[in-house]
Amino acid sequence: RSRAPIIAIDGPAGAGKSTVARLVAHQLGLLYLDTGAMYRALTWYVLEQGTDPQDPVAVAELLPHCQIRLTAQVVQDDQPQPSEVWVNDRPVTQAIRSAEVTAQVSTVAAQAAVRQRLVQQQQQYGQQGGVVADGRDIGTQVFPQAELKIFLTASVAERAQRRQRDLQALEQPVPELEVLAETIRERDRKDSTRAISPLRQAKDAIEVSTDALTIEQVVDQITALYRQTVANRGGPS
Ligand code: CDP
Ligand code: CDP
Repeated sequence: RSRAPIIAIDGPAGAGKSTVARLVAHQLGLLYLDTGAMYRALTWYVLEQGTDPQDPVAVAELLPHCQIRLTAQVVQDDQPQPSEVWVNDRPVTQAIRSAEVTAQVSTVAAQAAVRQRLVQQQQQYGQQGGVVADGRDIGTQVFPQAELKIFLTASVAERAQRRQRDLQALEQPVPELEVLAETIRERDRKDSTRAISPLRQAKDAIEVSTDALTIEQVVDQITALYRQTVANRGGPS
């Protein structure tokens, strides 16, 4: 095998995937691919164009006109930073995190043409390997050949609390815990029950439950698993 290893990190919203994936990539000298940011960027574009996110034909027509670009090195002073994202060269890093985009992204991400297009871009990105990718279908669809697959989980209550802290830090309105929990359950439900590439644990994925773990502990577990995996296959490339 000639390409460098790939780490796939899947799991539900708020499990800690992007935070952990960025730090793992940084520590191991790999690139980071935030596939959720790609679905968010496309959803932002759909809304910006005034297109109905529930209309798969109209959304599919937009696809050739939406070029998504993201940065792959996103840790500064050991602090994970979100990937910077552009749609047709417009910076949308903050805009793709809005409540409007969050509310519609699972609807857009359920559409066949959307997944075909974005999965293709993700696979191209990973052609040479050396990537940590996080999302919902990385281990099952995007990189089924990934050397290490992690399924990150946390309880709904824990994820709602994390979300509250994130919103506080962003100085955005902070809904009640139960409201956040319900939004999380709803997105879990949509992501797990859709027909194409639903969120599910790959057979060969290792589940890491993060409820009682710090970010650092999760990162250490994953880098240790990676080192074992690479050692077992005899060298990093
Ligand atoms: O960070 P958060 O958990 O809020 O979500 P995200 O990773 O940014 O993903 C946003 C949405 O994109 C998810 O709720 C899924 O509907 C969709 N998504 C997907 O379908 N497949 C992926 N590989 C990544 C995200
Ligand atoms: O990408 P995903 O939606 O899975 O989660 P995230 O945005 O990386 O993490 C959600 C929040 O949980 C962030 O504020 C993380 O700092 C926090 N987190 C945590 O408190 N403990 C962990 N073990 C992992 C993440």
